[in-house]
Amino acid sequence: MTRPDHDAMTGDLFAGTSGALPRYETLCPGAMLLRGFARPAEAALQAAIDHVARAAPFRHMITPGGYRMSVAMTNCGTYGWVTDRHGYRYDTIDPERGKPWPPMPKVFERLAHDAAEAAGFPGFTPDACLINRYDPGARLSLHQDKDERDYDQPIVSVSLGLPATFLFGGVRRKDRPAQLPLTHGDVVVWGGPSRLRYHGVKRLETGHHPLLGRCRINLTLRRAV
Ligand code: SIN
Ligand code: FE2
Repeated sequence: MTRPDHDAMTGDLFAGTSGALPRYETLCPGAMLLRGFARPAEAALQAAIDHVARAAPFRHMITPGGYRMSVAMTNCGTYGWVTDRHGYRYDTIDPERGKPWPPMPKVFERLAHDAAEAAGFPGFTPDACLINRYDPGARLSLHQDKDERDYDQPIVSVSLGLPATFLFGGVRRKDRPAQLPLTHGDVVVWGGPSRLRYHGVKRLETGHHPLLGRCRINLTLRRAV
């Protein structure tokens, strides 16, 4: 499948080079993988991530069960996703700093909107962005995103930096997940009948990425409220 609108808008390097490369892939009803969708914005995304992380540094949160997450996290937007001994929740205040999260960078908002639209979810306006940093060895176990108020709103997930294996399962925990290799600039969108699919990330292999160095960054853009 080609993507004439996006190509024309962004001047994507891969545009028109081959009809053979499927750049958009339907994973299952309501879920799409948009290969390289974020690449045209990589420099702006990196600058925005640095800006957010200077204000609200990455930290390893604690799960309700007392486990320190291997993924380092921060947030931007009106709502931030947090976990601590009391549970998972969205909060307008960063508990580490006692202040609101940094505002959502326009480039995040725009990318999330455009990716959601390309995947069949027009009009998406995220109010929360969780920024995950995976250093080599970090992983994220299978879970559902279900702390949001309205499941009609999709999830937009942006991969930057080192490659990773994304686990994309079914709506029951026991459904065996597909293993999807994700690389820099790939965007996965899931909503509708796929909104509550289990997903996770396998342990990150070590490596070096020309833009981001020794890590993978994932942006998870959501409508929390
Ligand atoms: C998440 O589910 O919050 C992150 C998924 C990813 O890192 O690809
Ligand atoms: Fe998730």
